[in-house]
Amino acid sequence: MSRRRPPWGAALAAGVAALSVGALAETFDVREPSLAPYRIEGTGIARPLTGRAGDPARGRAIARARTGGHCILCHAMPIPEEPAHGDTGPDLAGVGDRLSGAEIRLRIVNPKYVLAESMMPAYYRIEGLHRVAAGRPLLGAEDVEDLVAYLATLKGR
Ligand code: HEC
Repeated sequence: MSRRRPPWGAALAAGVAALSVGALAETFDVREPSLAPYRIEGTGIARPLTGRAGDPARGRAIARARTGGHCILCHAMPIPEEPAHGDTGPDLAGVGDRLSGAEIRLRIVNPKYVLAESMMPAYYRIEGLHRVAAGRPLLGAEDVEDLVAYLATLKGR
């Protein structure tokens, strides 16, 4: 694991500044056959991609799995049985207090919508995929919802 610590704090501050000047004020629908459409409104995506709440236990497993989100590659998370956590991104303990479910969902779907230079992968960015042969988002709609459900439980730090 690299020890180099990118200045995500400054990047995050820039993202927050962008939020406050209304960079996320627009509204649009994203549609793709066989993929769940979503609508970005304000600072997040309010409606679950699957239309219902996810399973936090499965979300925890996806966050940890190398073949899943592998979120722990870049984030410390309260998953003590996992020996190595990266520190490229912020510690996600307490993220459920800092961000709403809608805001967490948008950050997983497409972090670059919040912060153009974000290093975090867009896990469910579906716009433009029709131009890519066999284009698929990194995670399925259900996976994203399970992650949102799990991160929303990370409170009280
Ligand atoms: C390659 C590194 C990387 C990976 C992998 C990664 N992230 Fe991130 N994440 C970041 C960085 C860096 C930030 C800080 C903001 C930014 O740059 O977009 C961030 C920010 C976040 C935030 C906002 C946190 C806050 O306090 O504002 C959430 C939520 C998040 N990530 C969730 C996830 C989840 C869930 C996964 C796995 C599906 C994941 N991340 C995978 C790098 C990563």
